[in-house]
Amino acid sequence: MQATIDGIRLHWREAGHGPRVVVFVHAFPLDGSMWEDQLRRLPRRWRLLAPDLRGFGMTREGGALEPLTMERFADDLALWLEHLGVDRVTLCGLSMGGYVSFAFWRRYRERVHALVLCDTRASTDSAEGREARHALAARVRKEGAQVVAEAMIPRLLAPATRQGHPDLEQRLRGIIESQPAESIARAAEGMASREESTPLLPEIDVPVLVIVGAEDAAATVEEARRMRDAIPDARLVEIPGAAHLPNLEQPAAFDTALVHFLEAIE
Ligand code: MLT
Repeated sequence: MQATIDGIRLHWREAGHGPRVVVFVHAFPLDGSMWEDQLRRLPRRWRLLAPDLRGFGMTREGGALEPLTMERFADDLALWLEHLGVDRVTLCGLSMGGYVSFAFWRRYRERVHALVLCDTRASTDSAEGREARHALAARVRKEGAQVVAEAMIPRLLAPATRQGHPDLEQRLRGIIESQPAESIARAAEGMASREESTPLLPEIDVPVLVIVGAEDAAATVEEARRMRDAIPDARLVEIPGAAHLPNLEQPAAFDTALVHFLEAIE
């Protein structure tokens, strides 16, 4: 499905029906296709939407290329939901999708019914982390998306996933390599400049599910526990046998956690 939103053709995948809407926000540098398993497997009584963020997947940009900040992505989501006539949503964001969810909460909290924060962090990057993002942006502009796939795949998947599911590694590589280098670079810069969200956590007054892969080195279990402890109404599910992408590495455990949460907040 596609709609023109603020000068771009925003593309999304959709499944299910019903008044409750769940929006799945993808990680960096992936696209909405990372949620295909969830859209196929989750009960149809919820309306499930998985957009490709600006510059990624089939959401191609025309005209001027803007910085891809987390706020820019959040504004796109808000305009798109207005276009769909959807008032309130459960946002399920993974990693960069979690940063976008925090930006959405900062700007549009009245439109959030609940949050699912997967393998993400409320904190900003360290100085070294920011430098690494700028270095990555420079490299990807010069050498293309393949360098990002090489650098990221070992961080995204647990060793057992890479061994047992070479098909998944191939699929991820394909997704990453199909993203425009310029979008990857601008989103890396956007993440480097993202706002600190830790002070927001005690103010989040909707139900929250925190999910983390037990082997995630990018957004760790310790960070997930700190988020759970700081948010008034939060629960945490740690997924064994998964690193940074538990919805792909351990879809059955991920879906069970998500379905229990969605049922509990209905
Ligand atoms: C992601 O999966 O979205 C990235 O790991 C986010 C990040 O680099 O912080």
